[in-house]
Amino acid sequence: MNDRSDPILQARDVHVHYTGGVHALRGVSVHVATGETVALVGESGSGKSTLLKTFNRLVEPTQGEVRVRGEAVDAGRPEELRRSIGYIQQESSLLPHWTVGRNVGLVPRLLGWPRERVEVRTQELLALVGLEPAAYVDRYPLQLSGGQRQRVAFARALAGEAKVVLMDEPFGALDPLIRHDMQREFSQWRERLGISTLMVTHDLQVAARLADRIAVMRDGEILQVGSARELSEAPATSYVQDLLRRGEVTI
Ligand SMILES: Nc1ncnc2c1ncn2[C@@H]1O[C@H](COP(=O)(O)OP(=O)(O)OP(=O)(O)O)[C@@H](O)[C@H]1O
Ligand SMILES: [Mg+2]
Repeated sequence: MNDRSDPILQARDVHVHYTGGVHALRGVSVHVATGETVALVGESGSGKSTLLKTFNRLVEPTQGEVRVRGEAVDAGRPEELRRSIGYIQQESSLLPHWTVGRNVGLVPRLLGWPRERVEVRTQELLALVGLEPAAYVDRYPLQLSGGQRQRVAFARALAGEAKVVLMDEPFGALDPLIRHDMQREFSQWRERLGISTLMVTHDLQVAARLADRIAVMRDGEILQVGSARELSEAPATSYVQDLLRRGEVTI
């Protein structure tokens, strides 16, 4: 049962074998406490996206336990689980034949919010990500730049007021100025609403700035989890040490 002291996200000894023989996760354990932000860093193919997707059941583990708010993810229906978790995919997942407004309002509509509230929420979020609602709400994803699409995806992930958000490289395709603004907005917002986040980033500066703890992944395993300071002061392996040195983490 759910308990206040349960971590909001928890993976225990999770293995994922993809068809084709890839052993993408090899006994991963990690948790995110309520209100906490944990960053997953690691090289391409290390299993970051796979781990994220086990929490909203886009990937089913072959072994191990995944819990959200203390409940096993496979205890209920996947659709309900997904509505309760904001998710920003690594590749833009906007529905191409839907306008920006309809894309952003997707989850609130599925949650049955009245039309007016969906509209207000959509406008609020577009403004938050720096897209003038009147100019963008009726456009289609193909009429946007890559960075604008990413901002719409960001808005959509937060639209349903989920308290748990999974983010896969949410700031990747943004220009530095907007990236900085969105990170600042996100930090403030996260604190105000008590949002818990598991975020994939390849940028250690972002991880150090936004995350309470950083988990370093390699070849389907988590090598170390700790604050940026803990990792840099006591790296568990030479790989972690090299990664931090290359990333020029400032703490
Ligand atoms: N659907 C799939 N079927 C088979 N293998 C997959 C599938 N998705 C991912 N993989 C493999 O699993 C491993 C981990 O992939 P994953 O996408 O989790 O890596 P990642 O750390 O997110 O990498 P990146 O930084 O490039 O996004 C890789 O070897 C990848 O090729
Ligand atoms: Mg990935």
